[in-house]
Amino acid sequence: MWVSIINKDKNFMKSRYTLTAALPYTNGPVHIGHLAGVYIPADIFARFLRLKGKEVAFICGSDEHGVPITISAKKEGVSPQQIVDKYHAIINKSFEDFGISFDNYSRTSAEIHHKTASDFFRKLYENGKFIEETSEQYYDEQENQFLADRYITGTCPKCGNENAYGDQCENCGTSLSPKDLINPKSALSGNQPILKETQHWYLPLDQYENFLKDWILVQHKNDWKTNVLGQVKSWLDAGLQPRAVTRDLDWGIPVPVAGAEGKVLYVWFDAPIGYISSTKEWCEKNGKNWEDFWKSEETELIHFIGKDNIVFHCIIFPAMLQAHGNYILPENVPANEFLNLENDKISTSRNWAVWLHEYLQDFPNQQDVLRYVLASNMPETKDNNFTWSDFQLKNNSELVAIFGNFINRTLVLTQKYYEGNVPKPNAFTVTDKEVLENIQAIPSKIEEQLLQYRFRDALAEMMNLARIGNKYLADEEPWKVVKDNPERVETILFVALQIAGALAYCCEPFLPFTAQKLQASLHLQPKNWDSIFQDYIVPTGTKIQPLELLFSKIEDEQMTIQLQKLEQSKQENAKTTKATQLTTITAMKEQITFEDFTKIDLRIGTILQAEKVEKADKLLQLQVDTGIDVRTIVSGIAESFSPEEVIGKQVMVLVNLAPRKIRGIESEGMLLLTEKSDGKLSFVTPENPIENGKSVS
Ligand code: 2FM
Ligand code: ZN
Repeated sequence: MWVSIINKDKNFMKSRYTLTAALPYTNGPVHIGHLAGVYIPADIFARFLRLKGKEVAFICGSDEHGVPITISAKKEGVSPQQIVDKYHAIINKSFEDFGISFDNYSRTSAEIHHKTASDFFRKLYENGKFIEETSEQYYDEQENQFLADRYITGTCPKCGNENAYGDQCENCGTSLSPKDLINPKSALSGNQPILKETQHWYLPLDQYENFLKDWILVQHKNDWKTNVLGQVKSWLDAGLQPRAVTRDLDWGIPVPVAGAEGKVLYVWFDAPIGYISSTKEWCEKNGKNWEDFWKSEETELIHFIGKDNIVFHCIIFPAMLQAHGNYILPENVPANEFLNLENDKISTSRNWAVWLHEYLQDFPNQQDVLRYVLASNMPETKDNNFTWSDFQLKNNSELVAIFGNFINRTLVLTQKYYEGNVPKPNAFTVTDKEVLENIQAIPSKIEEQLLQYRFRDALAEMMNLARIGNKYLADEEPWKVVKDNPERVETILFVALQIAGALAYCCEPFLPFTAQKLQASLHLQPKNWDSIFQDYIVPTGTKIQPLELLFSKIEDEQMTIQLQKLEQSKQENAKTTKATQLTTITAMKEQITFEDFTKIDLRIGTILQAEKVEKADKLLQLQVDTGIDVRTIVSGIAESFSPEEVIGKQVMVLVNLAPRKIRGIESEGMLLLTEKSDGKLSFVTPENPIENGKSVS
């Protein structure tokens, strides 16, 4: 858990909030990974704050510059402008369809953004905040173009992925620069690039290191998520370098200074300024002052993003804001990890995704089902997985069987016994009193979780209300009691209707479409979150409107269709992979039994010491802490690693392999390794540090 104390007591909440959600690249539609990682948590939070009576600016827009756009344009054989126009419309519609309640959704091609970003750059330029440097960068001679960011691909030095980009390896998430790539290739022509001199402007991030260390690692050490602090720390520990904020490209915002022809602002310089320009656009339309949202100490700024955007929002953008001066800094950056789909990375290029517009074709009007399943599976602390079977289960056994069932029974019985009029309660039993008391605590419990960005737990608290209601009806059985004690039933249904009313308010941040239907049926007026229970929620005499079923069962056949879609993507991918695969895969070995497998004892270990074995070019003698003991292992890795490189590495160790002598040294185990495409070995390592001695199974 990333927060041990609630330091955001509701009494200390600010009155105004600027919430930003990562501007999506307009080179494709949005999928469930985007929704779960960024837009659902941001929307839940925005809706909750509005219910708390806060002034909220929930800001987003399309990120329309950068190489991802121009590459897609080239692939589709159209202009970059056509690409961004097409996807801006699709993305905007998906957000609207799923009830993502942005106050403003802009685009970085908007004039107001070009002006805001240019002015921002010019101010830093004029105040001497940049350094100008000439350096050698990759250049494609055939295309007459410098190869920035994704225009260059090659092998990732960290994980060996042969299709890493010049700015990032999508396989291991490492942020890269073109020169880090092994065997660089132009993504435009496939040719080997040459190096050519070019001049650029750099933001000297090294000068902001102390400020960032103090602001994040000291001041926010208790209230930022561990995954965010961890990434920031490793960047800061490695030491920050000046970062180029301009590029040699013809798509983007021209660098607004003399002598910069043919150069544009780096997309990661202009995109976060998009939050500011989108706020300005909204304020201009609504007679508000944008500076209240970006320059006032009364305002709390929060960035909702995915983990691949952490460095930009926690290091680069804050350094830009600091360099500019007068801006507030984010109070929190509650980044999520990634959502996988059916145990595989979501990928646009492999069409391994559930696209939002396609979901709505197959499940019309079921936005809240997806919102619910994604919120309950949100990758808050680690990568998480979406499966269609879990989707079906959560719909059928939670939304239908608990939430929907409770509401349906309550409304149908009120209709049946009292023609839809809320009855007058008689004497409350101890159970009634307990239930009424318990449900009153739920808004605060939801709030407590939300203020710590624990959306899954907040959602579970909301569902507790439905569980309480469902159990109450099942225990009280009004349909049986009605024969002998109709007066008691009046009280039971009165209590059940109060629970339904509480649910109608409390589900609003999570399930806005459901909340709207339920509130309309119960004739509920908008209420502040803190006063949901000021009076009885659904007073006696209210005439309830009949309501269609809120949720309906999802059948196996519907799941089969979804799984078939994915299977088709898989087969198409397999065909492409086969056609392009360069490495040879060795044939599978003879089958073994499960018992054979259980004999293998694999553990997590850490290499403590390493030295070359004399007269053996391939061997390193290692001291490995296996958690059980510290032992000597001789490993044939010297051609792939120097001794210094391996010290401190966590590895997987076969600990019950019979000892054997190698070059006179007794080796007591074996390390798990694999071979990369360049023939070098690579350790099989845990994704995150793990205690030595932990079994691998
Ligand atoms: O990762 C992305 O999709 C980027 N387009 C996010 C940009 S967020 C911001 F800074 F605008
Ligand atoms: Zn990698």
